[in-house]
Amino acid sequence: MAHEIRRIAVSTGGGDAPGLNAVIRAVVHAANKRGWEVFGIRDGYNGIFLKERYPNGTGIIPLTRERVRGITHLGGTIIGTTNRGNPFKYPMPQPDGTIKETDRADEVIAGFREHGFDALIAIGGDGSLSIANDLAKRGNIRVIGVPKTIDNDLEGTVATFGFDSAVSFATEAIDRLHSTAESHHRVMVVEVMGRTAGWIALHAGVAGTADVILIPEIPYDIAIVAEKINERERAGRHFSIIVVAEGAMPKGGTASVIEKELGKAERFGGLGEKIAAQIQALTNKETRCVVLGHLLRGGSPSAFDRLLSLRFGAAAVRALEEGQSGVVVVLDPPTVRYIPMEQVAHRVRHVPLDCDTIATAKDLGISFGI
Ligand code: F6P
Repeated sequence: MAHEIRRIAVSTGGGDAPGLNAVIRAVVHAANKRGWEVFGIRDGYNGIFLKERYPNGTGIIPLTRERVRGITHLGGTIIGTTNRGNPFKYPMPQPDGTIKETDRADEVIAGFREHGFDALIAIGGDGSLSIANDLAKRGNIRVIGVPKTIDNDLEGTVATFGFDSAVSFATEAIDRLHSTAESHHRVMVVEVMGRTAGWIALHAGVAGTADVILIPEIPYDIAIVAEKINERERAGRHFSIIVVAEGAMPKGGTASVIEKELGKAERFGGLGEKIAAQIQALTNKETRCVVLGHLLRGGSPSAFDRLLSLRFGAAAVRALEEGQSGVVVVLDPPTVRYIPMEQVAHRVRHVPLDCDTIATAKDLGISFGI
């Protein structure tokens, strides 16, 4: 029995990921099938409360079947997103030039009322889902979360959409680097995204037959990394591939941060080049670095991610129809089910050090720098 739902809002928050548009399309089709209307809030929640930036209601986009036609395979999000969109801590410029984090959540809630939205489907990572959960509590808004991140670091779901696409691209890149590394007898360092969890580095490194994989969960010793390179050299393997997650860190050290803005997560970067310089100094082998960065966020979603995204979107609508709220749809093979938002929000799912993928990597002779 539908619980008096007529109009639902959709928001996409945080870093984009391949599959977002597939979720949006499934939500629109499933909702329209039930006689519900769907509206997209532009750029996280900005479109519903930053009226000066979106005049004449342009921050809200009616999402019809026509509007979502042919978007399943498109990367990005047709309603936009932001990494600076926490309305509870909105960065407000002050007269003295400083930035003050200001609670503007009540304006978002007021916007919901003005537009007559009966529920929200929030598509995002741990940060965005936490915001949605807090909005739901303060504004008594019905909300369903859809887990999104290429980092695959959300609790409660076996996978997030975007991850398979990122790993597939990174693996192809590593394959390409094998040929140039071997031709030039070089060490190639490949830096991938992964702030606090090394899922992309681990999966792409193993699939791409890397020689060293460095992840945030395992602080590394650069001398041990260098010894692995020298060991290969002595065995006549005059090239090596090192895959590093941007958030990896040396034993006793910290992650490589290049920027920290108020109202925005710190930006990681620079680790690949640092490791390349250290390896070249320690091994006297020519070493180069390639940073895949946002290439991992773009592009068309893989078939796995398209299907997972469509499943998540339709499941979110069914959850509303069943009267659910404050839950996240999650992949729990062979099905998609709902778990409380608290089990996902404000949490990070790290790579378990006893997982079989790490055991497999070690059995394949891959070093984790320890
Ligand atoms: O959380 C996803 C993610 O891609 C991280 O892996 C990365 O560190 C971050 O977003 C980059 O954020 P931005 O797009 O703001 O640079």
